[in-house]
Amino acid sequence: MAKIHQTFVCQSCGAVYNRWRGRCEACDGWNTIQEETSAGPGQSGPAATRPSRARGRIFPLEGLTGEAKEAPRTPSGIGELDRVTGGGFVRGSVILLGGDPGIGKSTLLMQAAAAMAKQGAGVAYISGEEAVGQVRLRAERLGLAQADVQLAAQTNVEDIVETLSQGRPPALAVIDSIQTMWTETVESAPGTVTQVRSSAQALIRFAKTTGTAVILVGHVTKDGQIAGPRVVEHMVDAVASFEGDQGHHFRILRAVKNRFGPTDEIGVFEMTDAGLSEVPNPSALFLAGRDQQAAGTAVFAGMEGTRPLLVEIQALVAPSSLGMPRRAVVGWDPNRLSMVLAVLEAHAGIRLGSHDVYLNVAGGLRVVEPAADLAVAAALVSSLSGAVLPAETVYFGEIGLSGAIRPVAQAGARLKEAQKLGFAKALIPQGRGEGEKVLSVETLRHIADLVAGIGAGSARRGGRGRAPARAMEDDDY
Ligand code: TYD
Ligand code: MG
Repeated sequence: MAKIHQTFVCQSCGAVYNRWRGRCEACDGWNTIQEETSAGPGQSGPAATRPSRARGRIFPLEGLTGEAKEAPRTPSGIGELDRVTGGGFVRGSVILLGGDPGIGKSTLLMQAAAAMAKQGAGVAYISGEEAVGQVRLRAERLGLAQADVQLAAQTNVEDIVETLSQGRPPALAVIDSIQTMWTETVESAPGTVTQVRSSAQALIRFAKTTGTAVILVGHVTKDGQIAGPRVVEHMVDAVASFEGDQGHHFRILRAVKNRFGPTDEIGVFEMTDAGLSEVPNPSALFLAGRDQQAAGTAVFAGMEGTRPLLVEIQALVAPSSLGMPRRAVVGWDPNRLSMVLAVLEAHAGIRLGSHDVYLNVAGGLRVVEPAADLAVAAALVSSLSGAVLPAETVYFGEIGLSGAIRPVAQAGARLKEAQKLGFAKALIPQGRGEGEKVLSVETLRHIADLVAGIGAGSARRGGRGRAPARAMEDDDY
């Protein structure tokens, strides 16, 4: 047994110090460092955990002997979830599902467990937070009371592994949540970095030896009271985060890391009275309730992985009474906004230095693509000039520091989605099939002039425009 000694561990990122400090140098978190008793530096490694019968055994590397195969997967039966995992849960893989408390992680996983059980796969749901009765009650609310899911309320990892190893190991085991788990091999309290890490390690070992796909639920907390999921991120095969805000019903499942699939796909769900329902056509949802007569809004034709997604970009530009005007951004990169503002000023003569600027991506979505630059610029100019942009137009394109509008990938898919949703025109860089419907813009100056032109003509415009399906023909793309 290694010598017991005190260490100070950041509960947010897992950095270890030999004395207490107020701020973690690794993750910049304040008051996240806690004292922990550990059994030496190797305590969280496999050597410190209970010796298993598998010790020293060598397993053949399956799949290498035959021809190269796709990883064996079990689809969950929930399309939006399978899209994010890359087609289903890979045998023996471990997925960490992170998210704010109350966002719907348990709900999603109970639905996934039930859907998999319905296909005849063995599924176990281990709750460390709720009693079996509570979990059953939730399943009843979700209309899943008849699902053949094995429930257990346990927090001791050794017990869980023992329980799951009885008989045939299940195809899927959900551990809700990793922060409530504890292992006998370390002395720290549940929820501390050492416990979270060691418990995760034991469960990962279980997954690898039995072939059970394991999902670990991890709460994200900003105050560092319990160890964040970041401490196990590097140990697991895939990390997904479940996002959304309390004011909106939709929830977005995003792959952050995935050893067996894509990391840029998102799954879109809506929280309803009967649990989470899939949103197969998110563009329609994100554009619902759009005010087409308001200045300062532009529709961005974006891509999330392989799926095009239309969202409304809203800008508000107002004269500022502050010496240092406000710039507030929700759902986009603030640095990118600063850049667009600077380019607007330098290359289109649009000065916003004495204006407050607010930018919002409608619906609580977070856009990361630089391709949104053009829609942002159009929304900003529209808000400043008061000119309402045509409701039936979409925008995409990256703005360079020179003021040039640069082409972006997958223009065809973006345009197709726009057409499907009834948009008749597109303002894009170097458009294929230029002309009436697809307007190609080369510089930012060009956009400013166009919006000014709209401002002059917007009094004449009314309603929704022409019948879009006919206006925008397939051969435009
Ligand atoms: P939950 O899955 O318990 O969140 P987490 O496991 O991430 O902490 O979800 C809790 C929230 O979801 C709660 O605020 C109520 C809401 N909810 C619904 O709106 N409809 C439902 O059918 C269910 C089960 C929950
Ligand atoms: Mg929960």
